[in-house]
Amino acid sequence: MPERMTEGLSEAMPEAVEPTREGTAGTQAAVRIQDLAFRWQARAPVVLIIDDLTIARGERVFIEGPSGSGKSTLLGLLAGVAVPQQGDLVVLGQPLQRLGGVQRDHFRADHIGYIFQMFNLIPYLSVVENVTLPCRFSRLRRERALARSGTLEQEALRLLGHLDLADPALVGRAVTTLSVGQQQRVAAARALMGSPEVLIADEPTSALDADRREAFIRLLFDECRAAGSTLIFVSHDASLEGLFDRTLRLAGLNRALDGAGAGEGE
Ligand SMILES: Nc1ncnc2c1ncn2[C@@H]1O[C@H](COP(=O)(O)OP(=O)(O)OP(=O)(O)O)[C@@H](O)[C@H]1O
Ligand SMILES: [Mg+2]
Repeated sequence: MPERMTEGLSEAMPEAVEPTREGTAGTQAAVRIQDLAFRWQARAPVVLIIDDLTIARGERVFIEGPSGSGKSTLLGLLAGVAVPQQGDLVVLGQPLQRLGGVQRDHFRADHIGYIFQMFNLIPYLSVVENVTLPCRFSRLRRERALARSGTLEQEALRLLGHLDLADPALVGRAVTTLSVGQQQRVAAARALMGSPEVLIADEPTSALDADRREAFIRLLFDECRAAGSTLIFVSHDASLEGLFDRTLRLAGLNRALDGAGAGEGE
């Protein structure tokens, strides 16, 4: 996982970067991509070419593709972790390529819950502190979490409870002392905190047993439905595909895979 993906949250309190209201600028879409091209470094091959992609608000999209086909890269672009060198990338009405890095951090903090493939938990914080973290960077998400449960800690415990992690002995522990599957569920609870409009999940069930996976999927869908959130979900687990409104296959979507510029899969 690229180092840059750890830039999940900014230090500063955000000035809100407001997404365009529905109905203005003719954009109802959660995501609108046109003529996008992205490479990681100036002289590196182009790893992503997407001519046209729209994801509707509230849609639940499953993304599949072989290792190295650009799934995490696409998610990172949607979250404003990186910006395309070419093309338009509009998320919630906001053209991300027109924002600077700090503005993109603020946009992400306010509007995007991101379950990173490598979790990106903060090692020196406890379970509860990790889960409540997005609310330290986003007033919007803090207010939504407070409206839901009264305190941030209660909202964290509600989400953790659905993921079988509410044991009082566990929630105060440093996350580094948890199992990998437990850490993945902490990352999931953190992303759901404060009901962000877009939920991005990068192989979020890779370390979960069948029971925990089912409970996580149920929570994820319930929370997204309740908040009207858009869900963009990458997985190698084809058994989950049928739960989603639509599947995007990188093999068809990413033209960089057709010829020059594609990265090697592993
Ligand atoms: N930080 C980075 N710097 C340079 N190249 C990168 C970086 N991250 C990814 N790549 C390259 O971009 C291409 C796409 O990688 P990406 O991580 O998006 O694949 P993926 O589809 O998510 O794979 P996986 O299923 O293994 O997670 C690969 O060729 C990879 O080597
Ligand atoms: Mg990946």
